[in-house]
Amino acid sequence: MNVNPKPALRPYLPEDAEIAASIFVASIEQLTSDDYSEAQQEAWASAADDDEKFGAKLAAQLTLIATLGGAPVGFASLEGAGHIDMLFVHPDFVGQRVGATLIDALEKLAGARGAQALTVDASDNAAEFFAKRGYVATQRNTVTINGEWLANTSMKKTLAEPAAPGADQ
Ligand SMILES: CC(C)(COP(=O)(O)OP(=O)(O)OC[C@H]1O[C@@H](n2cnc3c(N)ncnc32)[C@H](O)[C@@H]1OP(=O)(O)O)[C@@H](O)C(=O)NCCC(=O)NCCS
Repeated sequence: MNVNPKPALRPYLPEDAEIAASIFVASIEQLTSDDYSEAQQEAWASAADDDEKFGAKLAAQLTLIATLGGAPVGFASLEGAGHIDMLFVHPDFVGQRVGATLIDALEKLAGARGAQALTVDASDNAAEFFAKRGYVATQRNTVTINGEWLANTSMKKTLAEPAAPGADQ
């Protein structure tokens, strides 16, 4: 038996709205308290109060669900051609390369669609994760969500040029 399965990926389906909302809330509540106050976390998590609206947003983007042993444990979404909008891993499954697998896949998909760079407004919790993957900070921001001010960092990664057709390697 494989006790440490690798994360698998699949496209987001409409019926994933509820589980994605619960991963989003658990991830914010349990993983971001070093960087954000309880009031800030509550305001941030309130984006998933309405499962249906939350799901409709994910369905409108290019959203991938990561599974371990078949069960959803994280998701990431690409907005437009090259902006990572969401990346959330369930707290019980962090440190198992779920986030890395999701972002590697979004980078490949965005590159295949012609994006030359990816951007993200990284939470203070995730900025180091993105820095490790080659994203460079371009700007510090503060955004208001439900009356709370939250800081994040705009980051950018230039994607490798795809090999030209007919190139040797
Ligand atoms: C940030 C997050 C997505 C990372 O997910 P994860 O599945 O635990 O990450 P991985 O296991 O794929 O880690 C990949 C690498 O990043 C590192 N890493 C992961 N989370 C990190 C963090 N919070 N700070 C610093 N490094 C981190 C890992 O140590 C690993 O390093 P390695 O390649 O040297 O081994 C997850 O902690 C999360 O959901 N956070 C809360 C929600 C959030 O802030 N989302 C971002 C919104 S923009």
